[in-house]
Amino acid sequence: MAHVTSVTFRNKKQAGERLAVLTAYDYPTARLLDECGIDAILVGDSCGMAVMGRPNTLSVTMDEMVHHTRMVSAAADRALVIADMPFLSYQTSPARAVENAGRLVAEGGAQAVKLEGPAQSWGPAIEAILAAGIPVMGHLGLTPQSIHRLGGYKVQGRDEADRAFMEREARALEAAGVFSIVLEVVPDSLAAAITEALSVPTIGIGAGPHCDGQVLVLHDMLGFGIATKHAKVYTDLRAQMSEAVTGYIGEVRSGAFPAQEHTFT
Ligand code: KIV
Repeated sequence: MAHVTSVTFRNKKQAGERLAVLTAYDYPTARLLDECGIDAILVGDSCGMAVMGRPNTLSVTMDEMVHHTRMVSAAADRALVIADMPFLSYQTSPARAVENAGRLVAEGGAQAVKLEGPAQSWGPAIEAILAAGIPVMGHLGLTPQSIHRLGGYKVQGRDEADRAFMEREARALEAAGVFSIVLEVVPDSLAAAITEALSVPTIGIGAGPHCDGQVLVLHDMLGFGIATKHAKVYTDLRAQMSEAVTGYIGEVRSGAFPAQEHTFT
């Protein structure tokens, strides 16, 4: 099957095909997602919470993102690998943004990067990264790197001013050249209006069914996350793993494992 690229994203929108995206932070998980036919794997800075036990995404470093991106890109034969630019890796200057995006591509093997926030703040950084040949995905709505300014993990774009701002900024991100925009935890009507207005695909998370695609944090959909309204739990893998591990502990303690068939004579 042909490799998905940032160009495929736009083509799929034109063809009316929805895009399925999930996060992954390691080789075996990314391999499985790729084999299942996922369109893109996001190496999200959500790894801070999902696998590092951090309270938020703010302390995730560039070195950590490169490390995780490298494992994922080694596994992905078909899916587009998008790496998150962590907090302060693009905010201080366009030159630093290019260097850090370049590390995610050159050292991590990513084929695109994602950064959070409006074009009015990061337009020059986005343009500089694009000029270096790296596709950029935007991210509007609930942007976790701004969690202290937003005052918590709340639905964004509910009042008129916020809504107008997000519609304007989505168009500005498209004009700046992003190949796609994540819309996180916004009302479905706002996501629908933005999706309709843009020629690049919107990828929703907690943004309703009208986006051009969806993304979930894999750990949330497998029962390892905090229950939220938008993250459907497809299977409770945590409960299954817990059952397996307690079964193992019990069998070791009782002497039932290893049995004859697990033993070399
Ligand atoms: O870090 C992440 O996983 C993300 C998704 C929630 C979109 O940015």
